[in-house]
This record gives sequence, C-alpha cells and structure tokens, in this order.
Amino acid sequence: MTVIGLGYLGAVHAAAMAELGFEVLGLDVLPHKVELLAAGKAPVYEPGLEELLRKHVAGLPGSTGRLSFTTSYAEVAAFGDVHFVCVNTPQKPGEYACDMSYVDAAVDALAPHLTRPALVVGKSTVPVGSAARLARRVAELAPAGEAAELAWNPEFLREGFAVEDTLRPDRIVVGVTSERAERVLRQVYAGPVGEGSPFVVADLPTAELVKTAANAFLSTKISFINAMAEICEAADGDVVKLAEALGYDDRIGRKFLRAGIGFGGGCLPKDIRAFMARAGELGAAEALTFLREIDSLNMRRRARMVELTRETLDGSLLGKRIAVLGAAFKPDSDDVRDSPALNIAGQLHLQGAEVTVYDPKAAENARRVFPTLRYAPSALDAAQGAHAVLHLTEWREFRDLDPAALGEVVSTRHLLDGRNTLDPALWRKANWSYRALGRPTA
Ligand code: UDX
Repeated sequence: MTVIGLGYLGAVHAAAMAELGFEVLGLDVLPHKVELLAAGKAPVYEPGLEELLRKHVAGLPGSTGRLSFTTSYAEVAAFGDVHFVCVNTPQKPGEYACDMSYVDAAVDALAPHLTRPALVVGKSTVPVGSAARLARRVAELAPAGEAAELAWNPEFLREGFAVEDTLRPDRIVVGVTSERAERVLRQVYAGPVGEGSPFVVADLPTAELVKTAANAFLSTKISFINAMAEICEAADGDVVKLAEALGYDDRIGRKFLRAGIGFGGGCLPKDIRAFMARAGELGAAEALTFLREIDSLNMRRRARMVELTRETLDGSLLGKRIAVLGAAFKPDSDDVRDSPALNIAGQLHLQGAEVTVYDPKAAENARRVFPTLRYAPSALDAAQGAHAVLHLTEWREFRDLDPAALGEVVSTRHLLDGRNTLDPALWRKANWSYRALGRPTA
C-alpha cells in the first residue's frame, strides 16, 4: 500500500501500517521530508514515531525494510493497489473554508498513473461532498476507468497519541460506494488494529461528516466548560470542582471538560470554521451558527488570560517580565499551529511585556513563528527575574516543578495557571499567589 502526504497524519499512518506488516511506500512532494524519513527521522515530534521508523525504514541497520519513501507518483502507482491520501487541508487565509488544493493536486497527480484496479482512500479532513467529487475525478483521469475507485476513511488520531491512536483506534469508519472497496478496507484493518474496534461502514458523505461532527462536538464540550468558567469568574465559583461533579454523570463524561485557555492546534479551530463554511454552501448555515459562538468563546479565553495577567501585575504590562511555560498547543507535541499558549505570549509581548518562553519540544517551531519573543532552555531559566509565571501548556514536567526552587529565581511570586492542572495548595504553601481561569482568587 502507499501513503501520500507525510505530515502528522501520513508519517504516522505509514509507520503504523509497516508495523502491522504491510509493505508501504510513502510519498511526499517535499524532497527534504522524504530524505529525513528515509534516514529514519520523524518530521514532527510524536511519541513512538521515531522508534517505528527505525524499526521499519528500508536500508537502516536491522530494520524490516517494509517502509520506503519516494517523491514519484509513477512509482507509487506501480507499487500499490491501495493508496491512502493524507495531505493536509489548512484553513484558507482570511476565510473560513479549508484549502482543498493539496488533496485535489494529490488525486490529479496519482490518478493518471492508475492503469490497473486500485482503491484511493482519502483520510484528510475535508468538507462534506469532496469525496464524491474526487471519486468522479479518479474514474475520469485513471486509465483503469471505473476500476479505480475512491473510498473515505477519516482519521481521528490525537497529536501526542498519534501512534497509539493509529494502532488502536476506538473506531474505524469507512465510506464506500462498492462491496469491493468495503472488502479491501476490511482486509487492511483485519488483524490487531481492527481487533476490538467497531467497524462502521457508511456512504461517502456520512463518513466525511463523522470526522467534522466529532470535532464540532469536542470543541463544543471545551467551550461549554469555558463558558461555565466565565460564569464561575463572575459568581466566584470554582470551575474545576464544577467539572469534576459534572463528569460523574456518565451521560456527560469527564473528558474534554478541562477549562482553561481553550482549544487550538491544526484541527479543531479550522475544522469548525470549515464546517460552518460548508454548511453555508449547502444552504444549511443555520444548523451550525452555534459553532460561531463556540469559536468566539474559545478565542475570548485567550484575551481573558492576557487580562488576568494585567490585573495581577497591577494594571500594566509595560516592561513587566513574564515567563511563559509552554508554546505547543498541547503537551507531548511540538505543534504550535494556532496555539493558545503562543498566541497569549505574543499578545503580552505586543502589549509591552518582556516575554520569555520555555517549551520542552516546541521552542524551535515557536521561534520560527514568533522570532521576537525570547526563548529559554528551561523553566528555571525562563523564570529568572520574572514578575509573573504563566502556565500555558500542561507538559508533565511543569506539574513536577518545585514551587520553592522557582520562587528563588523570580522577582515576584505570581503564578497564573492557564490549564488548571497545577495544584493551587502546593503553590500557595510556597508563598505564591495562584490565579487561574474560572477559579476563586484565594
Ligand atoms: C483533535 C481531535 O481530538 C482528534 O480526534 C482529531 O483527529 C484532530 O483534532 P488534537 O488536535 O490532537 O486532536 O488535540 P486534542 O487532544 O483534541 O486537543 C485539542 C485542543 O483542545 C488542545 O489545544 C487542548 O489543549 C484543548 N483542550 C482539550 C482543552 O482546552 N480542554 C480539554 O478538556 C481538552
């Protein structure tokens, strides 16, 4: 089988398929990415990915040799009969809609080489209706004609758990238009990956929608608890306690009820916007107007964190030294796409604060996006002389920080927890003022 597009999704999918025993050829149009992967190096930080690459990439000492890479579509078409399309669909600049040009380009480049029966399987997150359009395109461009089919198989992996989620998905969803396509995909997911995972067979639009609907639901859940945090702030309640008590109701569940600076990353924000744009095109905009509120509630949390910092620092940010712990949009990731942490660091900087950022893995990417911020090699270094320390990405190592040691190096002991994962009692005991979104001041 082959995997087209070797970003977060594709690199992990290719490595996971090799782990499951398939011979895999991965393609990316960027030669440097192909070279990196061919040397067994992961293009992104993802726990477990480099281990899988070292185990399977052809030519590496002791590898199974099941995984190799190319930039050539002709090679890909000759190599496999199942082609997973994993290219990205970013938000179009200045618009809500997502940019389909990479998916379209991949299908247009692959299909003319499909001279024998083949199944093109889309995994990228796309606006509903794209799969049917792409299926027609494949049949039109492929010399094999209707024997070259298209199916949709959305991917639900979370960054930081991408390898685990790919090897042990909680469900496998396939959108198909023929029994043959269903049979092929059942074969792909037979064996360990499919064991214990429900296999849902749907039509193309439903399969596409499962992904966007799931992300819309998850965003809604996070913004719901953040709305409750706003109410707690107004009423002097504690959103962490509230979430705990709500979570015991198993109709609600505990997950995705962590209030804080909100959601970010390459998926949730752009997916809900693209979903709204697509609903508009379909004449169903009204069904999703609530997502506009979910989005603005989410963005408001970032502004509130900046405000809380200003309040803590006696109403002015000008010239204040602020240590920001975390730049990635979530822990165990080096991804800074639409990161709430980096966005807040940037806002503080633009409002005159002297911001020093520390992140265990994402500093390099953050520096590329925001070169004017300062970056420190450790939390302790970032905190030197700080008037306030902001906890914005909940890396494990921040939970293990010693409040007393950090207290020695700062200028004033103000801690602001943007993720509600630190223990207020611990910090207060070490004479820190602890403030968090949606929680009482003392
Ligand atoms: C998400 C979906 O979970 C995944 O299924 C989909 O395939 C891609 O998008 P991901 O972007 O990796 O995955 O991160 P996720 O774990 O969902 O977190 C998204 C954002 O929400 C992060 O910024 C996280 O910090 C935030 N979040 C999550 C909260 O603010 N509170 C929560 O309770 C949970």
